[in-house]
Amino acid sequence: MPASPSPRASTIAGGTAPAAARLIGLKKTYFKPDGSVLVEALRGLDLVIPRGEYIAIMGASGSGKSTLMNLLGCLDRPTAGRYELDGAAVESLDDDELSRVRGQKIGFVFQAFNLISELSIAENVEIPLLYQGVSGPERRDRAAESLRIVGLDNRMHHRPRELSGGQQQRAAIARALVGRPAILMADEPTGNLDSTTGKQILETFEELHAKGLTLIMVTHDDRIAARCERVVRLADGDLESDRDGGGRMARADA
Ligand SMILES: Nc1ncnc2c1ncn2[C@@H]1O[C@H](COP(=O)(O)OP(=O)(O)OP(=O)(O)O)[C@@H](O)[C@H]1O
Ligand SMILES: [Mg+2]
Repeated sequence: MPASPSPRASTIAGGTAPAAARLIGLKKTYFKPDGSVLVEALRGLDLVIPRGEYIAIMGASGSGKSTLMNLLGCLDRPTAGRYELDGAAVESLDDDELSRVRGQKIGFVFQAFNLISELSIAENVEIPLLYQGVSGPERRDRAAESLRIVGLDNRMHHRPRELSGGQQQRAAIARALVGRPAILMADEPTGNLDSTTGKQILETFEELHAKGLTLIMVTHDDRIAARCERVVRLADGDLESDRDGGGRMARADA
């Protein structure tokens, strides 16, 4: 199916502030060992994500959502095309530069919370700063600040298993925020949670969105997507649709 042109790409690309992310003709092809094409996971995607947007990525299994998230999150490189993150081209960076950009600009939240069970919640949240060489006292201050943002400062010294599922996911969000990223990316962040707990996570995201953070979330749930500002749907590695979500309409008077 051919990609329908994004109605936003032209209008927003004309603005002055750099977009949080801008993809031009982005392709990801997986090859067989003999060099022939195995899968065209993304077929030349054009997408502009303005700073501060809260966007849901949807699409059937195998449509390319995780591939797109991996590229946006600098975990992987495109086969062809251009990716500008916060105004800077990233497709040409070498591995070290790519992981530095990832550490500085991107926060990840996964479906499985991926907390280290032997460490306290505060120690888990400090980990990204350890990789950035931030000093001990500053790490502790910033972990505490991050945990305050997600309402978990009273659980800092607990181990992950002493927390509920929703609290563990909030700790994972605090860990994603501690590096003060430009973009928070979440792949099915409520997939392992019951609906009440999932709602609390969405409220946390909405508070972060209100503070101006750019949020990109993969979800299969229409009710969750309806709370985002924008819903991008992939089909077979192409853009199938790009429309406003209920979140933007609700804020139309803002
Ligand atoms: N490392 C890989 N090697 C080969 N093919 C891959 C690889 N990763 C993904 N693919 C293929 O690329 C396509 C897109 O996969 P992707 O994981 O992005 O889908 P998805 O939309 O995230 O699906 P789901 O909803 O099941 O998570 C699929 O056809 C998949 O089989
Ligand atoms: Mg996936």
